[in-house]
Amino acid sequence: MKEPAPVTARLHGVSVAIENVTKTYELRDGGDLLALDRVDLTIAPGEFVSIVGPSGCGKSTLLSLVAGLVPVSTGKILIDGEEVRRPHAKVGVVFQTDLLLYWRSVMDNIMLPIEIKGWRRRDYLPRAARLLEQVGLAGFESKYPSELSGGMRQRTAICRALVQEPGLLLMDEPFGALDALTREQMIIDLQAMWLSVGSTVLFITHSIEEAVFLADRVLVMSPRPGRIDLDRTIEIPRPRSWRSRTDAKFIEYMSEIRGIFETRGVLKA
Ligand SMILES: Nc1ncnc2c1ncn2[C@@H]1O[C@H](COP(=O)(O)OP(=O)(O)OP(=O)(O)O)[C@@H](O)[C@H]1O
Ligand SMILES: [Mg+2]
Repeated sequence: MKEPAPVTARLHGVSVAIENVTKTYELRDGGDLLALDRVDLTIAPGEFVSIVGPSGCGKSTLLSLVAGLVPVSTGKILIDGEEVRRPHAKVGVVFQTDLLLYWRSVMDNIMLPIEIKGWRRRDYLPRAARLLEQVGLAGFESKYPSELSGGMRQRTAICRALVQEPGLLLMDEPFGALDALTREQMIIDLQAMWLSVGSTVLFITHSIEEAVFLADRVLVMSPRPGRIDLDRTIEIPRPRSWRSRTDAKFIEYMSEIRGIFETRGVLKA
């Protein structure tokens, strides 16, 4: 008998190299604003990297640069050794708000990147169906965004980012707008999905706990202009469960990161 197909085929996670990248925005009053200052880091294929940092430190800027949505001022960014100059076919993005099109059904929203790329819809329908099943949305294909809860909409947005088989998934506070319980579930589900999919992930969050829970590595950014203040490998076995939060190591990582924010005046003891 034939083996059943895996839930989703494992992808080739890409490598990312950010080399001495600076970003200066030109302001409308003629001034300049230094958002990122000499950021240097490499991400291995399939790695899950979380970034935490205070509001305005340049996290979304860094993500937009990697996504090819905004040009770097100096330095360069390479995806699998190729310099990023425009949005890359292998990159999927999930933002804080789901940005679903209200006049399209769940399935039609998920198929949007496929249509934009001019790929054949029927080649990707089975993958979309499996992704929906994996996030517990099987049967919701023909619903409209207004008929879904916030968590369901964000799950749809994650399926939309994953349908194009991205080697790199960029997530900018994807659970920021969700209630605490839904958020906890989404974090567990994202870990499961990532373990089965194998993409490289760059995950931005304000939550130190969320960052440590999900990541192979946590990067802590300084207040603006953003620099990498700490690059900490998280050695907690997977799959992690909420019980991992009581591990001595987990608590140690959390307090190390909090300590950096205290030193920087971002958090008060
Ligand atoms: N298009 C733009 N033009 C001018 N300044 C910008 C632009 N985008 C961002 N900035 C500025 O760059 C800095 C970094 O912004 P960014 O959105 O990257 O921060 P962030 O770390 O994502 O913040 P938050 O946690 O609040 O989302 C901020 O001071 C912001 O005002
Ligand atoms: Mg942001």
